[in-house]
Amino acid sequence: MDVRRWRCNQPKNMKILNLYAGIGGNRKLWPEGNQITAVELNPEIAAIYKDFFPNDEVIVADAHQYLLEHFREFDFIWSSPPCQSHSGCNYFLKGQGIFRYPDMSLYQEIIFLKYIADKNIKWIVENVKPYYEPLIKPTIKLDRHLFWTNFVIIEKEFDKPEVRHNKVTGKTDRFGINLQGIKMKHRKDQIIRNCVNPELGLYILNCAFNELKQMLVEK
Ligand SMILES: C[S@@+](CC[C@H](N)C(=O)[O-])C[C@H]1O[C@@H](n2cnc3c(N)ncnc32)[C@H](O)[C@@H]1O
Repeated sequence: MDVRRWRCNQPKNMKILNLYAGIGGNRKLWPEGNQITAVELNPEIAAIYKDFFPNDEVIVADAHQYLLEHFREFDFIWSSPPCQSHSGCNYFLKGQGIFRYPDMSLYQEIIFLKYIADKNIKWIVENVKPYYEPLIKPTIKLDRHLFWTNFVIIEKEFDKPEVRHNKVTGKTDRFGINLQGIKMKHRKDQIIRNCVNPELGLYILNCAFNELKQMLVEK
């Protein structure tokens, strides 16, 4: 294997799967030159993603099922399953007499990626810090997220967004992302709040590829 060529080419020409894509906060700073497939269930949100990232393939589908059927087609998989059923807001809902189970698809995906998916696929599953002890120990906590991965991520601090989480409105520009001028039925504040800090998204992608570089160099 020509190691030098591999090093020069990183992180280009990677096939990346962006599951539960939202409007692509985590993806915003990913470099061009990679082949990115985004899966988002909500067509309205998927259309905005496509508008932001016209070169990505955007698929309106159930990301959980898509992972099972297509994981082998990718070098890197990012999954951001919905966090509502795991977050602290469930205590608040409890106070209002609203009860729900945590959605176990989060752990299904972690277990699947860790034990069944091919070892050469780099993967990351992202979620919030849950209101309970995580059933599977996360690899790292960065910012307000927990991450489960099969590569090393070194601790790093990220600037806090100017607008605090609970102050976000439909008009907020957060991380350079805003939905002003876009007509839609879905709550804009929720969509913006869902966005992962793009700096964090890029940092994690780089961690995955840097480790790959090291692995290739050592061979
Ligand atoms: C936490 S947000 C993703 C945020 C995204 N990673 C970012 O940084 O902008 C989760 C997204 O998953 C979508 N979603 C929920 N269930 C889904 C499913 N079964 N398949 C695909 N997308 C789904 C929601 O509409 C929402 O946009």
